[in-house]
Amino acid sequence: MDLTGCEFDRPSLTALTEASAAVNSTLELSMVLQQIARRAAAVARAEASSVLTYHALRRRLIFAAAVGARGEVLLGREFEADLGIAGRVLKSGRPLNVADVSTSSDFYDGIDALSAFQTRGLMAAPMIYQSETIGVIEVLNPCERGQFSSTDLELLTVFANLAACAARNARTHDQLRREHRALRESLLSRLQIIGASAPLREMLKLADRVATTNATVLLLGETGTGKELIAKYIHDRSERRQHAFVAVNCAALPETLLESELFGHEKGAFTGAIQQHLGRFELADGGTLFLDEIGDISASTQVKLLRLLQEHAFTRVGGTKTISCDVRVIAATNRNLKKALEEGRFRDDLYYRLNVFPIHLPPLRERREDVPALAEHFAALACQNLGVPPRRLAAETVALLVAYDWPGNIRELCNIVERAVLMCDGTDLLPAHLPADITGSTPTAAAFAGAGLWATERAMIVNALREARWNKSKAARALGISRDNLRYRLKKYNISDREE
Ligand SMILES: Nc1ncnc2c1ncn2[C@@H]1O[C@H](COP(=O)(O)OP(=O)(O)OP(=O)(O)O)[C@@H](O)[C@H]1O
Ligand SMILES: [Mg+2]
Repeated sequence: MDLTGCEFDRPSLTALTEASAAVNSTLELSMVLQQIARRAAAVARAEASSVLTYHALRRRLIFAAAVGARGEVLLGREFEADLGIAGRVLKSGRPLNVADVSTSSDFYDGIDALSAFQTRGLMAAPMIYQSETIGVIEVLNPCERGQFSSTDLELLTVFANLAACAARNARTHDQLRREHRALRESLLSRLQIIGASAPLREMLKLADRVATTNATVLLLGETGTGKELIAKYIHDRSERRQHAFVAVNCAALPETLLESELFGHEKGAFTGAIQQHLGRFELADGGTLFLDEIGDISASTQVKLLRLLQEHAFTRVGGTKTISCDVRVIAATNRNLKKALEEGRFRDDLYYRLNVFPIHLPPLRERREDVPALAEHFAALACQNLGVPPRRLAAETVALLVAYDWPGNIRELCNIVERAVLMCDGTDLLPAHLPADITGSTPTAAAFAGAGLWATERAMIVNALREARWNKSKAARALGISRDNLRYRLKKYNISDREE
């Protein structure tokens, strides 16, 4: 914009500077728009003002903010983008000063009727951001003077461009914030802990209790019981959640490498150490370090770890400088640490340091009632990941899954359900889609009691009938119920003879 020859007086420049600072003082979109309307009225010394944003897809102008006697009734109202003086300004991209609206053929009086306002004189300036007109600012009726001057119009035009920049920044910020929240939620939902069994609830109660403290946590549980998941759960509920969660599998690295991986090394510490290397403890500073398979660490790493837990300090491999760090340690093992202790493979002082707050993760076979919900969750995830339509778990399939003993726990269940989804061409995941070692088992009474499920009971009955070649007396005996009871249940579950 060419401002040569324009003569803003000092009060005008002060008003412009203040207005620009005000609209840039926040990134909250609605606040920015409100500030623009308020400051536009101040800059132009007008009775009322509005900010109209342009919705390009719908080709409409929308009242995004309004200041004046009854400005609030206009908020959110919209009209065709080619209507009125604002429409003309939007189209031409040039500001307009209409001293007396009653003489203007462009003036649209519908708005005055709505807000019970009487417009006499009006100025409108386009809000241009990177050559795109994103809206229009209107100011109505000059205060204490007959009409707006050409300097007033220039001032409003400058302000409208500053305001356009603030409004666009706020909108981008708003969008990014929403995207960020959605992404975070979808990430967290991947961290969803499925299950409502008593052992799981007890375990989560302990995790919740310790999460907000800085205490070292020791997670004990068989392979695939969810130790890493619970470690993340604890981190996410701690004050440290904005900082890093770093996981190290201590069994995956040879002894010497593990030590330098955890504590870092100085240049030349050993052959091949061509430059300084920061360890995981330094990377996790302020956050949480998850040490998986802690039972596997060497004697010298045990010493260093003990010092770290006691003094929050360590030295890099090959270094002498003491480095302090603020890291919360969550350790995990699927081994019997007590036994390693007795056999002298694990330091007892380290064991007691780690064992301040042990949490036992129950194996899946001790919380069979969680199997149906977990299986459904994994089926839905697998269908989503593989891009296939949703599949249902047939009742018989659920019953077999509940009955199985799960040596590999939840990870094994997850893999088996994913495999079933891959094997399945129809809409239902059937027993035929499960591996033989699972279909080989028969739902037990314990499984049924645990699941407490309609589907499980039905599946057990169908199974017993199949085993008894549909001889009802035999099936009732196998199920431990009377013939009448069985007949009642056949009706209840709508099981017909020879159902396959
Ligand atoms: N309660 C749960 N709800 C949903 N998913 C779970 C649950 N528990 C575990 N999982 C999932 O099961 C899988 C195994 O969990 P995780 O890796 O945490 O087990 P782990 O105990 O660390 O196993 P390992 O001892 O083999 O390292 C992961 O995919 C995890 O997301
Ligand atoms: Mg693990």
